[in-house]
Amino acid sequence: MRFEYSAGGFVYRKTSNNVLLLFLVSENNELDIPKGHIEKNERTEETAKREIKEETGLDVDFVPYFKEHTEYFFYRGKERTFKRVVFFLAKTNRRDVRVSYEHSGYKWLNFEEAMSKVKYKDIKILLPEVFDYIDRYERMNRLNGDYTALSKTVKNWHLSTNFVPGEGPLNAKIMVVGQAPGRNEDQQRKPFVGRSGLVLNEMLKVAKLKRDRLYITSVVQYYPPKNRTPSREEVGVCKEFLMKQIDVIKPMNIVMLGDVACNSLIGGVKVSRDHGRVMRRDGVKYLITFHPAMALRSKNKVAVLMKNDFAKFKDELNVK
Ligand code: URA
Repeated sequence: MRFEYSAGGFVYRKTSNNVLLLFLVSENNELDIPKGHIEKNERTEETAKREIKEETGLDVDFVPYFKEHTEYFFYRGKERTFKRVVFFLAKTNRRDVRVSYEHSGYKWLNFEEAMSKVKYKDIKILLPEVFDYIDRYERMNRLNGDYTALSKTVKNWHLSTNFVPGEGPLNAKIMVVGQAPGRNEDQQRKPFVGRSGLVLNEMLKVAKLKRDRLYITSVVQYYPPKNRTPSREEVGVCKEFLMKQIDVIKPMNIVMLGDVACNSLIGGVKVSRDHGRVMRRDGVKYLITFHPAMALRSKNKVAVLMKNDFAKFKDELNVK
């Protein structure tokens, strides 16, 4: 048996009322997307970028965290071949594409058109997910754009003006919600990259969770100077955005770190009493535990309790 490994990318553009995906017309008149063999020492992402450039002339950056693959067998003559293709996703503003000698043309298609015209099964099977991810990406970007503007529009703004967006796949099954970014997060504009982030990483290991499969954020996504607890008003303003972000991601599980997260999302919780509990609301599991900063402050005691919580959560969070 032969093995073939390829990589490629879906490329989309937005019109005023539609999302259109780019397809290349092959010599046998089938619709395909830019993709090709992974060269020696090439990373899949590099292959996908190179193939998109060679087959369309477009220079693209990929939408973070979108990475899918398909696997199938086919016959080349009498030889059975196993093929694995990794797919990325990119957005472009250009509508004109320069196709290479391998294709006779190109088409921009919306979801319905793509579903009815695309024949290659490995592409077609991914289309609902691709369009779904684009929808989440566009919604989250709009939401974060409005959230970023808050520091300029809200009167008496006392938080930092650096917005720290949530991080992770927009279709994550598990969301982790903290309180507010710390100084490191403020500087790097990424959640949980400081000392609390190290504690969180340790806890995720206990629950056998991969950080890049989770969507990680905080109730307030701006640093409160001197690391103070955000005020009730600040939580109120920011919580509206958190709720909308949750609606984009629609996680099945939300791990709440600390009292601010718990009381913003379900209320009536005291982490010191309720940690380790799992509550169900509207089909979503809410998991209660301490904020990692508590573990840092209390030396060992809270860290041990937190580890026990995450060990307990391991089975609850056993999602594919
Ligand atoms: N603590 C939080 O609650 N959020 C972060 O992003 C970092 C530390």
